[in-house]
Amino acid sequence: MMTLYINACVRPKSRTNRLAHALLDRLGDFDEIRLDGLRLEPMTAERLALRTELMTKGDFSDPIFDQAKKFASAEHIVIAAPFWDLSFPAELKTYIENIFVVGLTSVYDENGVPHGLCKAKKLWYVTTAGGYFDPRFGYDYIKELVGHYFGISDTELIYAECLDLIGKDAEFILSETIKNKIDDKSFF
Ligand SMILES: Cc1cc2nc3c(=O)[nH]c(=O)nc-3n(C[C@H](O)[C@H](O)[C@H](O)COP(=O)(O)O)c2cc1C
Repeated sequence: MMTLYINACVRPKSRTNRLAHALLDRLGDFDEIRLDGLRLEPMTAERLALRTELMTKGDFSDPIFDQAKKFASAEHIVIAAPFWDLSFPAELKTYIENIFVVGLTSVYDENGVPHGLCKAKKLWYVTTAGGYFDPRFGYDYIKELVGHYFGISDTELIYAECLDLIGKDAEFILSETIKNKIDDKSFF
C-alpha cells in the first residue's frame, strides 16, 4: 500500500516531522516529497498560460503535472506542516497550486459541481504549534479542499500544541501525543 508523505517541515530537527514519522511507522512503506528541496514554482503568468493550454488539449505529459499525478494516485497521504502564522508554510500552498489540476485531481460537471479524481482512501494532517493550535486556516482548509474537490472525504488531524510555551515540556507533550494519538490506535 503506497503512502505519499508530503513533508512541508523546514527546521532540521522539526518536531512535526518526528510526529509524522511515528504515524508513518504505522502505515508502512512511503514515498516522501520534501517541499523545501523540491522548489516548486508558484503559478506565475507564464506557468498558468502553459498549464491552461496543456489542460485544454488534455495533454498531461509535461513535467508541470508530475506532482498532481503522484497525488492523485497515492493510496494514503500524510501531510506534515508546522503551524505558521495561523496556517502552514507557503511551500505547502505552492504545492497545492501545482496539484490542483482539472482533469487529474478534480473535474467539474456541466453544473459546475466538482468531482474528485484522487484515489486516496485517507489523508492525515500532522502539525505542531508553539502556542495553542487553531485549525481554521490550515487543517480546515485542507479538509475542505481535499474533501470537496479531490474526493478524499476521510481526513484526520494529529497535532501537538503549546510546544514553545514557557513552563511546558515539549518532549513530554510530543511523546504523549505519539502514545495517545498514534501508538495506541488501530489504523486499519
Ligand atoms: C515562521 C514561524 C511562524 C510561526 N507561527 C506560529 C503561530 O502563528 N502560532 C503558534 O502557536 N506558533 C507559531 N510558530 C511556532 C511553531 O508552530 C512551533 O515552534 C512548531 O512546533 C514548529 O514546528 P517544527 O518543530 O516542526 O519546526 C511559528 C514558528 C515559525 C518559525
